[in-house]
Amino acid sequence: MKLILVALGLCSVVLSSKVRFDDFKVHRVTPTTASQVEALRELEENQIAYNFWSSAVDVHHPVDIMVPPHLIYDFQDFLDFQQLTSEVFIDNVQDRIDNEKPSVQSRVFGWNDYYRLSDIYDWMRTIATAYEVATLVVGGTSYQDRPIMGLRISYSAININRTVFVEGGIHAHEWISPAVSTFIIQQLLTSSDPVVRRVAQSYDWYFFPVFNPDGYEYSHTTNRMWRKTRTPYGSCYGADPNRNWGYRWNTGGGSTNPCSDTFSGPNPFSERSVSTMSQFLTGISSRLVGYISFHSYSQLLLYPYGYTSANRDNWGELLEVGEKAATALASRFGTRFNVGNIGATLGVFAGGSIDWVKGTYGTRVTYTYKLRDLGRYGFILPADHIVPTGLETLDSFVTIFDEFGAKL
Ligand SMILES: *[C@@H]1O[C@H](CO)[C@@H](O)[C@H](O)[C@H]1NC(C)=O
Ligand SMILES: [Zn+2]
Repeated sequence: MKLILVALGLCSVVLSSKVRFDDFKVHRVTPTTASQVEALRELEENQIAYNFWSSAVDVHHPVDIMVPPHLIYDFQDFLDFQQLTSEVFIDNVQDRIDNEKPSVQSRVFGWNDYYRLSDIYDWMRTIATAYEVATLVVGGTSYQDRPIMGLRISYSAININRTVFVEGGIHAHEWISPAVSTFIIQQLLTSSDPVVRRVAQSYDWYFFPVFNPDGYEYSHTTNRMWRKTRTPYGSCYGADPNRNWGYRWNTGGGSTNPCSDTFSGPNPFSERSVSTMSQFLTGISSRLVGYISFHSYSQLLLYPYGYTSANRDNWGELLEVGEKAATALASRFGTRFNVGNIGATLGVFAGGSIDWVKGTYGTRVTYTYKLRDLGRYGFILPADHIVPTGLETLDSFVTIFDEFGAKL
């Protein structure tokens, strides 16, 4: 009997190929000295077995680090040596993963669960069939030959020169991002709220909910924490598609190590998803007035650039409208977002999509969201947060485009 159980156990290990995160903990560490900041940066760069959920920016900025169980004593040594203390924000990452999805799963697409790529694409096809104003577009292709599908929503040809591009899911494990993207599509098409209707009908929209389809699928099938593309680089896989764009590429905040989660790629636009989508964007660039990207987590609404912490271009109006958007967002459930410059808030990094769009085409309305939460769940936000996150994000989203509407 024992032998059979052992055999079954081995068998299930072989069959279930999902990476597990049992007893992986997420520690929040807040450096108070410059040398502690530097030590945390070095740890992130040199010890990729630690998974930094957020990077060291400056003193008093918290850093979230996922620590695997085999490194628990090494990590404690590091903290002791640096005279740092930590707070355990997530005690067992696998528990969070196991409780992320509802216990009863619906096959019908909606916003009470996270869905696979084919479900999202099927839903987009259904929308394109059901609504005359919605058209399916293929914007690009991934390394593994998946189409990068988008929906264009166009109520009137008059809006052609007021085109807005919405990017979801460039980081594979930020599942709330595609979910909020599809939620907003649905609301722009069906809401009877007068502000939502006005905004929906005043722009020409392109929504791409899953910018990184290979990574997204891999995060469902194999590794819930997968962030990058799936292009092979030696013994490691993937580049960070938000470090790979060809504007001041690799001038900071990305890694040259293919095994790192922030690998910038061997050269700009090395990632097929990034290069093909950049060509698509170039094609609509003369009509483009807005670019929004959805990431998680930490409740921030950010304006360019990432490559510098200095304020540039039309940052003044982006800050002003951003504050109004954050107020609108908070008015629904009290969720607080901070507004700021990407580089100053997250730490300087080059090669982000929004930097390329802003720097190359001077697109006016450019924001990056970091959606819920503040770290209790981090990237593994339970599915029952999708609807409230979608509603509050929509409130801020329509505020942005209503505010700019009169100016454009
Ligand atoms: C859009 O802009 C182009 C180029 O400036 C112009 O020729 C065209 O008439 C504009 N279309 C609309 C509908 O405003
Ligand atoms: Zn992200």
